[in-house]
Amino acid sequence: MSTWKVAVIIGLGVGAMLIMQSGDLLDSVGNGYPIWRETGLLAQAVVCIIAGVSLLAIGWLHGLLFSPLELLRGPDDVGYIAEDGRSRAQAANEVRRRRKTGELPPVYPNGWYRVLDSHMLKRGEVKSVSVLGEQVAVFRDQDGKAYVIDAYCPHLGANLAVGGRVVGSCIECPFHGWQFRGNDGKCVRIPYAEKVPEFAKVRCWPSCEVNRQILVWFHCDKEDPQWSVPEQQEITKGEWVYRGRTEHFINAHIEEIPENAADIAHLAHLHTPGILSGVDLRYTYSKTWEFVRHDWKVQWEPEPEPNKHCSQMLVKHALTVFGCHWPLLDICVVARQVGPGVVFLQFEHSFLGRGVILHCVTPVEPLLQCVSHTIYYQSNIPPLVPKFILKAECIQFERDVMIWNNKKYISKPLLVKEDSAIQKHRRWYSQFYSENSPRLQYQRDTLDF
Ligand code: FES
Ligand SMILES: [Fe+2]
Repeated sequence: MSTWKVAVIIGLGVGAMLIMQSGDLLDSVGNGYPIWRETGLLAQAVVCIIAGVSLLAIGWLHGLLFSPLELLRGPDDVGYIAEDGRSRAQAANEVRRRRKTGELPPVYPNGWYRVLDSHMLKRGEVKSVSVLGEQVAVFRDQDGKAYVIDAYCPHLGANLAVGGRVVGSCIECPFHGWQFRGNDGKCVRIPYAEKVPEFAKVRCWPSCEVNRQILVWFHCDKEDPQWSVPEQQEITKGEWVYRGRTEHFINAHIEEIPENAADIAHLAHLHTPGILSGVDLRYTYSKTWEFVRHDWKVQWEPEPEPNKHCSQMLVKHALTVFGCHWPLLDICVVARQVGPGVVFLQFEHSFLGRGVILHCVTPVEPLLQCVSHTIYYQSNIPPLVPKFILKAECIQFERDVMIWNNKKYISKPLLVKEDSAIQKHRRWYSQFYSENSPRLQYQRDTLDF
């Protein structure tokens, strides 16, 4: 139950109790609390309301200070301009229908992608997830191991994640009860058949669970994983704790999102206005807030062998208020990208402590990406610090979302010398495509949310 609900219940309870105590008005013996005996009903009601409101305020403050920050945006919540009486959903659908896609690279690069956070899947639970244009069933056995398999049962097509039951390390189909093993997808039991055919199996996705996330490996030719997702020891050991997450759905090609890291010039333009000026790009340059600005120094480089699937963006951030630089708030961030779908944004600050934002991009459909930012931070730093960092990051990110949601992919962009890192990034990223990587075949008639 959320804190505010608890506060309301306690407030009402206290109020009711006080009114009952004041029942001495009807008490002929007259042994209620003297104060209540002497005050009128109106005064008692006021006291109850003040008590309730105070408890609500305490609940709200407790949430603000200690609960994780969770901002989950729907696909049409951010980055569209809804004018002329249209709803945001209508605006989003129109943009998706009318936008030119350009000459796109393949839509699903080879790599690791987050499907769920570990805490979202309890023992014995199964979840349905849309990832890379497929429906998968993610389930956890009673020993705690998580598995990812194709959701549709090869028998007659029921969705294993909708009513399926975890039995040992298998999942049982809700339709006729066939059971499939999590580690290789093989059917091990058909309740009404004498023999289980050798070929009865469902596709099993290579998966791993690291940094409290469940990830799947995708390769268009079904090749085995070519690298692993590094473990952030501080998360595993519990030295850095969960302080919140954000989730966005972005209407763009997946490559456009990491390309931002190498697009150095956009930082000095899109991300310079202070976070107080918000996320709507029509107003971010408003005069009211121009006394706050962010300055960025950025460098992007691929890593050498054996980590050529990784790259690093080094960011130095400086805050200026009324033209005055506040060196105490200078922050250095190392954004290490591991393959196409995972980035570790590592923060280090002299007194604000250390932590990481796990930035994960997972394609849902060819031009729809689910992006999550999950923050883990030193447990001895007040939660308000990482929550503020996550919120600030979210504001800057939502400015990018407005660009991505409305832009076209340009395969041969018109670049100047200072943009050279963008081409370098495209060359680096092309390692995640192979000859058979799926491409967008056709534009659907409707992509309505
Ligand atoms: S459809 Fe799954 S057992 Fe028949
Ligand atoms: Fe950006």
